Amino acid sequence: MRTPLIAGNWKMNGDQDMATALCHEITADAQTLSNVEVLLCPPFTLLLVVESALEGSRCQLGAQDMDINANGAFTGQISAAMLKDCGCKYVILGHSERRAIYGESDLLVAEKIKIAVAGGLTAILCVGESREERESGITEQVIERQIQVVIDIVGIQSFNNLVIAYEPVWAIGTGLTATPDQAQQVHNSIRQQLASLDASIADTCRILYGGSMKPDNARELLEKPDIDGGLIGGAALNAQDFLKICQATCPTA
Ligand code: 13P
Repeated sequence: MRTPLIAGNWKMNGDQDMATALCHEITADAQTLSNVEVLLCPPFTLLLVVESALEGSRCQLGAQDMDINANGAFTGQISAAMLKDCGCKYVILGHSERRAIYGESDLLVAEKIKIAVAGGLTAILCVGESREERESGITEQVIERQIQVVIDIVGIQSFNNLVIAYEPVWAIGTGLTATPDQAQQVHNSIRQQLASLDASIADTCRILYGGSMKPDNARELLEKPDIDGGLIGGAALNAQDFLKICQATCPTA
C-alpha cells in the first residue's frame, strides 16, 4: 500500500511573512487529514522559517535542488548535508525548469540523486516530456531514458529512497493538464520499467503527477491506480487550494 504524497513546490516565490502565514493555515487543517503525507518545498532562504512553522505538525520539509559536492569552493551552491541541517527530509531533483533553464543533463540529475540518497535524503526525481516529444509519439521512450540513467548510476535498490514525479513539461504552469488516462498510461509504463528489475520496488515506489494539478482536477487524477500523489506548483501557494488537493487523496473526504 503506497501512502499518497502531496508535495508543494513553491519555486522562486515567497518571503518570511508569506511562508509563516501559509504554513500556519496548512498545518491547522493538515492535522485532520489521515493517510496522506504532506510536504512543503520552499526556496532555500525560507527553509528554516518553514521548518520552525511546521514544528509539531505532520507536514514535512523538502528543498528544490542541491549540489553534487559535499562542501568547499562552490559559490552559490547548497549541499545535501546543509539541507539535512535545515531539517529537510526530501529534495526535488531534475525538475524540468532546472533541466531546461540551467542545462541539467540526465547524467547530472542522476549524480545528484546518488548524492542525495547517500546523504540520507529522499529524492523526488522529476521526469517529463516536452510538447514536441509528445506530439512525436516518443513520450514513453523519453521518460524511460530519463529513469534508466538514474537506475544505471544509483542502482534499482536506491528507488527504495526515491519518489518519481511525472511532470509533462507542456502542462507545467500552463493550466493544461494531462488527462487522467494520459497520466495513468505514463505512470503505468514507469512502474513496468521498475518492475522489470524489481517487482517489490515497483510496487512500493510512489509516482506523483505534476503539471497544473488543481483542486478541480486532483481527485480524478489521484483516483488512477498508478498515481500516488501530486507535485504542486501554483496551487501550493494558496493554502486552501493546497489543502483541497490533499483532501482529494482521501476517497471518503
Ligand atoms: P504547476 O502546478 O504550477 O503547473 O507546476 C507544477 C510543477 O512544476 C511542480 O513541480
